[in-house]
Amino acid sequence: MDHHTGFLYGAATSAHQVEGNNVHNDWWAWEQYTRAATKSGQAADHWNRYKEDFALAKSLSHTAHRLSIEWSRIEPAQGQWNKKAIDHYRAVLTELKDLGMTTFVTLHHFTNPRWLTERGGWESSRTPELFQAYVRYAAQHLAGLVDFWITINEPLVYATQGYWEAKWPPAKHDFPALLRVVQRMANAHRRAYRTLRSITPDAPVGFAKHLVAYLPEHVGQIDDQLVARMEDWWFNHRFFSLTRGMYDFIGVNYYVPRKLRVHILPLQVQRLPWSGPVTDLDWPINPAGLTHVLLHMKKYGKPVYITENGLADAKDSLRADFIRDHLRAVEAAQAQGVDVRGYLHWSLLDNFEWADGFGPRFGLIEVDYKTMERRVRPSAYVYKAIIEQASGVK
Ligand code: BGC
Repeated sequence: MDHHTGFLYGAATSAHQVEGNNVHNDWWAWEQYTRAATKSGQAADHWNRYKEDFALAKSLSHTAHRLSIEWSRIEPAQGQWNKKAIDHYRAVLTELKDLGMTTFVTLHHFTNPRWLTERGGWESSRTPELFQAYVRYAAQHLAGLVDFWITINEPLVYATQGYWEAKWPPAKHDFPALLRVVQRMANAHRRAYRTLRSITPDAPVGFAKHLVAYLPEHVGQIDDQLVARMEDWWFNHRFFSLTRGMYDFIGVNYYVPRKLRVHILPLQVQRLPWSGPVTDLDWPINPAGLTHVLLHMKKYGKPVYITENGLADAKDSLRADFIRDHLRAVEAAQAQGVDVRGYLHWSLLDNFEWADGFGPRFGLIEVDYKTMERRVRPSAYVYKAIIEQASGVK
């Protein structure tokens, strides 16, 4: 592969999905008291095993790592800062720096402190300000250890799942609330951007945006195309307009393309089934979609990092090809002038896949949830070989 030297390779995780015992957040509450299928419990026990996990990442030749820090641990009650928690994250990031790895730190990855939820969560106009206070505290205490800040992970996914699809807490089906949450998150990002730029001026700031590929060959009639355009405008691009001029790079999370079919009378938008290969979660596999969404990012004129891309594949029979093909898709975008500078696979470890529980296996490293033993999957070695070849190691 001819990625220019300095291209970053690694993997990503998020706090609630791997750490275990995030007892002060809204997801934990949801898992205990509602209809959620599985409880996150110990998750992958990464809180205690991060050294072992990072040593594995290093042995797999990763040069970068993305993780999230948990707001509800750092600020378990409003205005009360937990020194132990922030010291833990200092130790975690120091470990990565000692291994010579580039760090991407996400400040919000779907979970909220329970006290925030009690005050109206992301529907409240005060939340952006409260988020900013947490971001300020984190930046002051982690300065120098963070190479890239990601303020918010997938704002549109968060808002859709929680306020429209009712699949995640607070499980609402409320269109005005959905719109409000997106506005609040954009406001929170802009505030966080200013705070981070002033406290840690050397660390670029962005957000991780889930992008769906609406491939032209997958939309049929003119009304299908129109609806695909509208979804694309709203889901893929809206957050960029709400935060214009206030991001230093673009974080792309790419998983799936989408085929739409529209019925007029009664009005219905259908997501059509996929005929090609799918993952264990039945998500279509389509590397060309990655090139497609990357080309769409070109107009924003910022460096791009793939901050997530991966699949549920318990047998590990598809993952090696998946990685190879998606990296080729990145190269195709680079060849057409998109400035892509890194690829972080989702995920380093098997983890708690939100409403889908522990079933889906996204890890380059398998986790035995009974013994917490780690086993490197064969595809992780294929990825390692790709990284070494690209960086001229060997
Ligand atoms: C999220 C991750 C999640 C992954 C796979 C992304 O939308 O950021 O938290 O595990 O997709 O579903």
